[in-house]
Amino acid sequence: MTSYNIALLAGDGTGKEVTDEAVKVLKAAGEKYSVDFNFEPALIGGCAYDVYKKPLPDETLNIAKSSDAVLLGAVGDWKYDTLPPEVRPEKALLGIRKELNLFANLRPATVYPELTKLSPLKEDVIAGTDIMIVRELTGDVYFGTPKGIETRNGEKFGFNNMCYYESEIRRIAHVAFKVAMQRNRKLCSVDKANVLDVSRLWREIVTEVSKEYPLVELNYMYVDNAAMQIIRNPKQFDVILTGNIFGDILSDEASMLSGSLGLLPSASLSDSKPAMYEPIHGSAPDLKGQNIVNPIATILSAAMMLKYSFNMDKQHDDIVNAVRKALKDGYRTQDIAQQGMKTIGTSEMGDIIKNNIMQN
Ligand code: IPM
Ligand code: MG
Repeated sequence: MTSYNIALLAGDGTGKEVTDEAVKVLKAAGEKYSVDFNFEPALIGGCAYDVYKKPLPDETLNIAKSSDAVLLGAVGDWKYDTLPPEVRPEKALLGIRKELNLFANLRPATVYPELTKLSPLKEDVIAGTDIMIVRELTGDVYFGTPKGIETRNGEKFGFNNMCYYESEIRRIAHVAFKVAMQRNRKLCSVDKANVLDVSRLWREIVTEVSKEYPLVELNYMYVDNAAMQIIRNPKQFDVILTGNIFGDILSDEASMLSGSLGLLPSASLSDSKPAMYEPIHGSAPDLKGQNIVNPIATILSAAMMLKYSFNMDKQHDDIVNAVRKALKDGYRTQDIAQQGMKTIGTSEMGDIIKNNIMQN
């Protein structure tokens, strides 16, 4: 029997509640398809700081590095807000991305027909939207140096550096073009080349890489325009390729097309294994322990794991269909509650999706 080791990093807040449901679903899929998934839990974020005084302990990193894939819940809690920046929970997220070289972040924003009424946008604008955002994840102003806060000219001065090597742009561009080839072959590269030098290089390299993918229709957009177009006419997009900070912002924006942050998964890939899978939402510490958060984003992240780490495309589709059936049958968590539908808890949603898999 094929067997995979999955590092299980539940993290803080509601992280454990959502990963519990994803584990449930993966185990069901494993049983159905005779694949053995072993889960190795480890601490990350604030809970790791409590024990190790570090948000990303070596133990955790080693477990992650020796795994076949990483499933992450979320990190962060208000109680850590006063910690110095180097040990804040968010630092663990940036740290693990860098350590595992997870430079390619795939964030699909899919509008499910069952939920078109949920979006704050008009139904006819969003119906049928299916965007894949390919966000560079280990470079840009997030990691650029020099950075800091110092005194200059008698006052405080804060600075970061937005920078990319051409090799970093090239490798993420290849990922995006390959993703586009498997979809509708349209790629929009988003930058701020009218102002930023780093964006001018971005555009130059993306153009160069595009020569290797003649079947993909490429266009460029400035990020301010892209932010507007995502709301005005999201259906014009197939794949969006962009850098770390623009991707951070645009992916939160695009999540609102689907109606809830609780629905959107992500995959963070490197050239080698392991990859990491996590919902794009945060840890929602105020909702912790109440069995009300939506586990779908994490369950769909687990589905992405099957596709991107284990080449189990059919099993990926099986989980997506199980989620869609739960929605079609009228089951809703609180964040996506609708009149006339059944509002249920986190674990009930996990059970229903699991049962759908077993019965498919
Ligand atoms: C995300 C988050 C992170 C980021 C934070 C928590 C560091 O917003 O994954 O989008 O900015 O990348
Ligand atoms: Mg973000």
